[in-house]
Formats: sequence, structure tokens, C-alpha cells
Amino acid sequence: MKKNTPLPPLGAAEQKQYTLAMRAENDRIFEATGKRRGAFIQTFGCQQNEADSEKFAGMCQEMGYAIVTEPADADFIVVNTCAIREHAEKRTLSIVGQYKHLKEKNPALVIAVCGCMMAQEHRQNDIKFRYPYVDFVMGPSSLHRLPQLLCQKLKTGKRIYCPEEAEYTVVEDLPIRRESSYRAWVSVMYGCNNFCSYCIVPYVRGRERSREKDKIVSEVRELVAAGYKDITLLGQNVNSYAKDRTEGYDFADLLAELDTIEGDFVLRFMTSHPKDASRKLIDVMATSRHIAHQFHLPMQSGSDAILSKMNRRYDTEKYLGIVDYMKEKMPDVTVTSDIIVGFPGETEEDFEGTMQMLSRVRFDMLYSFIYSPRKGTPAAEMEQVPKDVTAARFERLLALQKQIGQERNDALVGKTLRVLCDGVSKGNDALYSGRTEGNKIAFFEGDEEDVGKFVNITVERADAFALWGKKV
Ligand code: SAH
Ligand code: SF4
Ligand code: F3S
Repeated sequence: MKKNTPLPPLGAAEQKQYTLAMRAENDRIFEATGKRRGAFIQTFGCQQNEADSEKFAGMCQEMGYAIVTEPADADFIVVNTCAIREHAEKRTLSIVGQYKHLKEKNPALVIAVCGCMMAQEHRQNDIKFRYPYVDFVMGPSSLHRLPQLLCQKLKTGKRIYCPEEAEYTVVEDLPIRRESSYRAWVSVMYGCNNFCSYCIVPYVRGRERSREKDKIVSEVRELVAAGYKDITLLGQNVNSYAKDRTEGYDFADLLAELDTIEGDFVLRFMTSHPKDASRKLIDVMATSRHIAHQFHLPMQSGSDAILSKMNRRYDTEKYLGIVDYMKEKMPDVTVTSDIIVGFPGETEEDFEGTMQMLSRVRFDMLYSFIYSPRKGTPAAEMEQVPKDVTAARFERLLALQKQIGQERNDALVGKTLRVLCDGVSKGNDALYSGRTEGNKIAFFEGDEEDVGKFVNITVERADAFALWGKKV
């Protein structure tokens, strides 16, 4: 595909004209038919994408669409994609494939494919040549252009392949339609500078850029005032927050300031990179009023040789130093991690190193992934581990973690924990479910009154992944 010329930066205010034009048209249709046009937003990938989708939904709502929960009810479909592993990409393309028949039924349907996959030229080309009914595509740093691209598509009828932004900016003041009325995401920074050798994120999300501290503080203040109980600060590497700014504050300072906000709420953050997780940050957490004693600290591997090939810039000793300090300052801390199994060149001994680190750290929970080569990243060019070897190691890792998770959760039996109730459990409608301060899932007999509120439960039993208890 021919490279498009980059677009000039265009912020929320400049998008207003497009938003208003769409709003007028959608209001007209509503008056004529009694029915609002529907927008369906489908999200793949990480919390960043979930947060971005809340902005897509906010923009759609401002443009006069009703947000619908079924693609068949939509006049506008936005697919927010993820490129982190091949599996995610394949699944997304197959779902985009299923929308073909919706377009055949309703030729006026507009389909946009956005997000991380679309920042890769070969994936834009996939859409261009294999999914001709998709109307426009754009990468994650162009998300604020949704109204502009939609208007342009409707006006010209031509498909649009939005080029990457001329410069990566932070676009403030976009409308947000939050999924929940008591849990919220707050992005503090975008992009990543780390270039871990396996990872596509720096290529699709661009360089690190941080929001101004005052903008974040006022957003959190407003959320607390609106009754939000659980607020998660988001960034690919929150510990490098503000390193691109000149004001001289860092992530620990931001947390300390947010902790001064009055109210009954819990503050979390993700993700932390071990190379930047500072003692200052842990000290702020340990003495805070609102910051959950929960730390997601991706380790990726327990082999120093592999960590070096991954370009992670820490070793197992440094990792253990952080975890030990965390446990010393916060004995009740919940520690979770990400692990990649089968990184190129991983030997049996390297993998044993990972298993030993699991036993040493005793994580509460792990997100483990089989290595997936990503086009354009250095690791994709390295010698790959055979699939069957990786699969067998993966099973061993899961089995060990299951045992450790069970032991960690068993230790909570008899304890009383505060849980933020999410409503009736999906698997068992006789029970309600919620999340503890450590972000563990807990089930209990609750009632509708509890939803969105903190309840105290005494833990009666546990498995490796969840707790069951009684309300006190
Ligand atoms: N910024 C975060 C993680 C972002 S991606 C961090 O640095 O920790 C979430 C997780 O996906 C990563 O921690 C890693 O474990 C996994 N991951 C990333 N690229 C991958 C790949 N190519 N194959 C398998 N897992 C991958
Ligand atoms: Fe990917 Fe590494 Fe950046 Fe995390 S820190 S997003 S793993 S490059
Ligand atoms: Fe996926 Fe993009 Fe997140 S690649 S994991 S959605 S940053």
C-alpha cells in the first residue's frame, strides 16, 4: 500500500465541527423515525484499549448515536483491535469477516477498524484487500479523529486508510462514556519507549508521552466526587510517567498527590516495569490511604540470559530486590506478574529459572503467555523454540502456579476482606461477585443493594483463582 502523507495534529476542539454535523444528521433521523442510529464498539486487547473504547463510545454518543450491545442493531461498528499476539489478530480478523453479512443486509452500515493492529501496514493491507466492506481504518494514536473520518467517509463514499499521526500528541478533553459507574480507567501516559525485543507495542503505540499532572488530578477528583470507588491509572510503563515532561515530578509524586483526595475509594495502577519500579513508589504506597496493596510487576522470565535477550534491562536479582522490599513494607501485598514461555533460545535451564522464581516470589496470580513472533520485532528473527517444547513447559508453569495460587489464597481463609461488589456472578446466579483490594475475585451471598459498594466478607474457602466468603 502507498504510504499516505501524515495528517496535521487535530485535537478535540477541531473535531467538534464534525461531531456537530453528525449530531444534526442523527437527530434528524431520530425525529423522522423515532429511533436513534446505533453504534457498536467491540474491544480486544488490554486495559488501554478498554479505556480507548470508552472514548470511542463517548464520541459516538456525542455524535448522536445510541450505544448498542449487538452488532446486528448497529449502523456504525467500531472494532478496536490488539496486535500483541497472533491469536488476538486472527480472532479479530475472523470477527471482522463475520460483519460482511451485516453489511450485505444493511449497505448503509459503516464499519471502522481501529486500534493497534491498524498501526501496522501489513494489517491495513489485509483490510484493504481482503475485507473490502470495511469503510475506514486508523491506528490508536488517531482515535480522536473518529468524527472527522466518519464524516469524510459519509461525504465522499471513499474508503479511508488513516496515516499515522504527524506527531504523537496527547489529546485532552475527549468525551468518555464509562462502562461502569464505580470502576474507572484513567490513562496517565501513552506509548512505550522500551522496545522489549518480543513486543509490538512501541511500534503501534508510538513514543511515551505523559498527560499533565493537573489534568489527571482533576479527572480523578471528578470521578471520586461522582461516586467512583475503584480507579486504575493506566500506562504501558507507569513508572516512567512524566519522564518526558520538564516539571520535575514523577509517578510516585503523582500517586502521593492523588492520595490526598478525600473520599472512600481505592487507587491502582498498571503496568510497572521492574527497571523503573522505585523504592520511593513503594514507600508512597505503603503509607498511603487509598492505594491498593497490589502490584502487577511483569517478570517475563526467570533467566538472566533470556531477560537480557528480551532487552528488559533488569536481572532476577534486581527483580527480587523490588519484591522483597515491597513485601517488607506491605506484608499484605498481592503480587501478580506476566510470564512469556518459549521465548527464542529458551533452554530447559532457562525455563527452570522461571519455575524457581515462581517458587521464590510466590505470585498470587500469573498471566502467562506462549511466545508469539511479531513481525518487525527483533525476537521474531531469532531461533524459535519448537511448539511442542513450549506447550509442555507452559503446562508445567500453569500447574506450579495453580499450586502456589491455591496456597496463597488458602492463607486468606478466616480473614475478613473488603470487596467491591460487581453484581450477580456470571457463573452462578445464586452468588454475587466482587474484587478484593488485592484484585482477587470473591463470591458471596449478596443483594442488589451491594452492587457498586464495598462489602466486608469473611473468607470461608478458596481455590487457586478465587475466594468464597460470607458477608459480615
Ligand atoms: N507494558 C506492559 C505489558 C504490555 S503487553 C509491560 O511491559 O509489562 C502484556 C503482556 O503481553 C506482556 O507483559 C508480555 O508478557 C505479553 N507479551 C507481549 N508481547 C508478547 C509476544 N510477542 N508473545 C507473547 N506474549 C507477549
Ligand atoms: Fe511491550 Fe516492553 Fe513496552 Fe511493555 S515495556 S509495552 S512489554 S515494549
Ligand atoms: Fe494489544 Fe495494543 Fe494493548 S497491542 S495489548 S491493545 S497496547
